[in-house]
Amino acid sequence: MRTVGRLDGKVAIITGAARGQGEAEARLFAEEGARVVLGDVLDDRGTAVAAEIGAAARYVRLDVRDEASWADALAVAERDFGPVSVLVNNAGIFRVSNLVETTVDQFRELFEVNQLGAFLGMRTVVPSMERAGGGSIVNISSTSGLAGYPGTTSYTATKFALRGMTKTAAMELGPLGIRVNSIHPGGIDTEMIRPGGEVDAMGGADALDQRFATTPLRRVGQAVEIARMALFLASDESSYSTGAEFVADGGMLAGPRG
Ligand SMILES: NC(=O)c1ccc[n+]([C@@H]2O[C@H](COP(=O)([O-])OP(=O)(O)OC[C@H]3O[C@@H](n4cnc5c(N)ncnc54)[C@H](O)[C@@H]3O)[C@@H](O)[C@H]2O)c1
Repeated sequence: MRTVGRLDGKVAIITGAARGQGEAEARLFAEEGARVVLGDVLDDRGTAVAAEIGAAARYVRLDVRDEASWADALAVAERDFGPVSVLVNNAGIFRVSNLVETTVDQFRELFEVNQLGAFLGMRTVVPSMERAGGGSIVNISSTSGLAGYPGTTSYTATKFALRGMTKTAAMELGPLGIRVNSIHPGGIDTEMIRPGGEVDAMGGADALDQRFATTPLRRVGQAVEIARMALFLASDESSYSTGAEFVADGGMLAGPRG
């Protein structure tokens, strides 16, 4: 017999949920009683993850850059599960290049997925969250939303922007019972930063723990360690937190790295 879930009765949309942190969040949220809509552009993987989760999950093709795609995802959520009470803006892409080598096309590409996507997501779900009687929006920023890293101008721009949008949205939406917070992961073991992935150019093909050997916890983080923080923010356990930054970085930003 299942005990009470920490997200019982909640309906969540999670973007970028076909793999990595978004997948971990979808699995954990469903285990805790939520019904989840997984959005991504990796249709085969997203469909497979939703099928494994079972009746509490749906996969929708959701390109976060596209307004019509957001309307479709919301329609599926409301039709199958009811008004949306949780949104995790998790979808993101990373590219490495120095400032002087960064092209306008690359800057726009990151802006559209990481920043415009989250804006569209927040704007889309607000009326549904009002119908649900309130809600929680979790924006996945980064330690790159709190500090600069050489070679990441366009990524850092989007992750700082997410932090600012989070605070402004929290101020506007608080009176409606909608909380908005940002999560700032450090290095997390997903395809984004694995050797051969998007960040390879920064760290070389070293083992991931080796790349993070100078952080206080001396290791890379795991997707579930961010999913647990997202679970806390999605749930009513975080009922007095809004407009705030939640860091899970193994201590990366605690001080200078030797
Ligand atoms: N992995 C890390 O070290 C790290 C650190 C800090 C922050 N983050 C952030 O965490 C979030 C999740 O990343 P991850 O580590 O799970 O990486 P990941 O690359 O495994 O997952 C990102 C997901 O976003 C999806 N996506 C990309 N473009 C999309 C679009 N236009 N529409 C919908 N989905 C799209 C991808 O298909 C993928 O499933 C991202 O926002 C990332 O910037 C990651």
